[in-house]
This record gives sequence, C-alpha cells and structure tokens, in this order.
Amino acid sequence: MGRASRRGLAVLCSASALILLYWAGSGGRAVWEPAQFRVVRHKDLDPVTPDNNVAMRSTEGGQTPGQQPDQSQGGTARARVLLVSYMRSGSTFTGDIFQASPQVFYLYEPLIYVNDDDYMAPTERSAKNRLIPIAFGIPHPPEIHNYTLDTLNCGFTDHNLRFLYALTYSQSTTEFDQCQKKLGVKPSNFGECGERLRERCVQSKAVVSKILRLKMWEVERLLREDPELRVIHLVRDPRGVYISRRAARYYFGDAPFCARFNADAAKSAELQAKYPGRILTTRYEDLATNPLGIAKLLFNFGGIPWTEEVQTTLVSMTSNADVQTTEHVFSTKRKNSSLTATSWRQKIAFENSWKLQKLCSSAMELYGYVPFQTDQELRDLNIASFTRDYSHVFFKAQIER
Ligand SMILES: *[C@@H]1O[C@H](CO)[C@@H](O)[C@H](O)[C@H]1NC(C)=O
Ligand SMILES: *[C@@H]1O[C@H](CO)[C@@H](O)[C@H](O)[C@H]1NC(C)=O
Repeated sequence: MGRASRRGLAVLCSASALILLYWAGSGGRAVWEPAQFRVVRHKDLDPVTPDNNVAMRSTEGGQTPGQQPDQSQGGTARARVLLVSYMRSGSTFTGDIFQASPQVFYLYEPLIYVNDDDYMAPTERSAKNRLIPIAFGIPHPPEIHNYTLDTLNCGFTDHNLRFLYALTYSQSTTEFDQCQKKLGVKPSNFGECGERLRERCVQSKAVVSKILRLKMWEVERLLREDPELRVIHLVRDPRGVYISRRAARYYFGDAPFCARFNADAAKSAELQAKYPGRILTTRYEDLATNPLGIAKLLFNFGGIPWTEEVQTTLVSMTSNADVQTTEHVFSTKRKNSSLTATSWRQKIAFENSWKLQKLCSSAMELYGYVPFQTDQELRDLNIASFTRDYSHVFFKAQIER
C-alpha cells in the first residue's frame, strides 16, 4: 500500500474502502515518453481572435483565454484551474505537468470521497447521494461544490482538510502530510499543519485541482459561481479508456461510461457558448503526440507563466527514463507515446470496439474519434483513429501538426 494511502487509514475505518481508495488514487499511472518535441506555434490560444477560434465567435465580451485573471472584478491574482477528466485518461500526467511549476499549488483529487459511479461497479454505488464516507463513519462530508470552490480558494478548514487525499501525490500537500505524521494524524493537529498549507496555497500563482468526479452539468455551477475559474476538460478515446481500465482491473460499464461521456460532451458544447474561452477541451491523444506543445497551451490557458525551469523539468520528466518526478506516475517502458495512445487498437476485440462506437457515438463524433467498420481497419495503424481537427463548438488545445 502506498504512502498516500496511509492517510486514508487515519480517516477511514473500512478495509474495503481503503483498497477502493488506494486503487482510485493510484489510477493515473501514465505512459509517457518523449514524443516529438517540436516547438509549436499555436493558433488557438495566443493571441485569440475570432478568426482562429471558432468557439469564441458566437459570444461577445467573454474572457479571453490566456489572460491573467481580472482583478478589477473583485477577483484575486491567483488563477484557479479545474482539471476535469475520467479514470485512465491521462489526468495524473496532466496534473504533474502543472506541478512542474513551483508557482502552482496542486490538489490531487480532493473529491476522492465522492462516489464515482463512472468506474465503480453499480453495487458499490450509493443511490441516494454520491458520498462514500458516510458509510465509513465520517460525519458531515463537505458538499461537493462548496468543497471544490473552498479548496480552489485556499479555504482549508480543520473540518474539510481531513478530506484531502493522496497528499504525497502533490508536492504542494506533501509537507502537510509530513507535518501531520510528526504531530499525529488527528483533526486537533490540523491547525498548525493546516496553517502552513494555507500559506503555501495563498502564496501560489495558481491553484490547480484534478477531479474525476465532477460531471459537466455540475461544473456549470462552479463556472457561474466563480467567474474566473478555468476548466480543462481532458478526454480520451473511449476504446482506449476501456482497454486501459481493463488492464488496471477497474470496473468499466460501457453503458454508464458512455452515458456520462456523451452527456458531458453535449453539456460542454452548451457551456462553450455560455462561458466562452473558459473551458479548454483537450484530447489525450493530442497530449500524447506532443506533450510539451500541449503543456504550453495548458499553462497559457491557466494564466500560469511558462518558464525555462518549467520547460526543463518537463523535458526531463518526459525524456529521462530513469527520472521519476513523482512516485507513481511514469511508466518508463514505452518507447513512443503516440504509439501508446493507440496501443488499444491491437488489444481490443472488434466486437467491443464496435459496441463502444455505438454507445459513445455522439461524443466520439464531437471529439473526432473515428469509428472502424471492420477488424482490418481497426488494426491498420495507417488509418488514424482520431481526426486532426474536431468539432468547432469546442475551444481546443491543439497544435499544428
Ligand atoms: C462552504 O461552507 C462553509 C461552511 O458552511 C462556509 O464557511 C463557506 O463559505 C462555504 N464556501 C462557499 C464557497 O460557499
Ligand atoms: C511513434 O509512432 C508513430 C506511429 O507508428 C510514428 O509515426 C512516429 O514517427 C513515432 N515517433 C517516434 C518518436 O518514434
């Protein structure tokens, strides 16, 4: 059991919960290797004009992505970025990209306590609410919107701190973990350790929070309530998600997954018009093709300075097979991340691919994932599984290829 899970021990009293949460927490083992590190110019983000960003066209007066947060409207100088994704879609790697900047305060899955019916088997779901901890004796878990906004705003309290999870997966929360262990993990000791965590957060330039448990309809309220919040919506080909979850022995109910994936895509498209430039759709496959190029776009979108230091860290993170920047993240076996992103094509049964293509069709079409009509097409890597460009309803992190 990993170090991060030990904090879970102090909080939870059920062994099954521990196993469950441990699996959840270690879920993002990423598969990255140096791909083609071209220096990219990108049309989409810098600067934004109506001509090169169709998603901005329909609404006037929206915020321009890549700008620093607007302080004149009563905001703070600290950017807030929510990374919304799905289990086995590259979110841990993306989170670690942000961690490459010392100016970023990073939270790893602060909503871990919320039941994720997207990867938990139906029998494990609580029908009434999505909260796990009630079952394990933790009283009054924070409400999810409240908690998400509070933590994005460094609003840590003795009560809500106990719901932070996988503390050692983030450099920002590791010190808090150590402090607690020194003093003894109990809420009465949160004061001193929590104060230092708060300070660290307050002094950062941006708070980035990776969350797999928020659906896009839930994100809408956050966009409304925090006018400066930016959302990165990281998506991956469902057929790849399926193979990756199967390898990791996660539950994959294709119908529930596709229901969520489709609903999120539709909702995201709707939110694009309502909150222009505040949601950045990012495909895992683009990230795999050019990690550095996409990383720059993500920083730009989040209003986080891209420095030499960040670039150097990311290059070593993705290119040196012996360096593991975080405990669990980088698999070093893969030779070619573009290949890794499409390795599911050798592993998936045609029937499963076919079924997912049907169930997830509306989202797949919006994101430019190509359905295969025959087994031969599926295996033929000369036929791309994702289009270069995709739906213009989205504001996208894309690179010129
Ligand atoms: C969340 O709830 C706490 C306790 O009720 C409150 O103090 C805080 O202001 C709330 N945060 C938000 C963002 O509404
Ligand atoms: C990775 O694999 C793809 C697909 O076979 C290939 O086109 C590309 O050139 C490879 N990249 C590297 C860096 O080897």
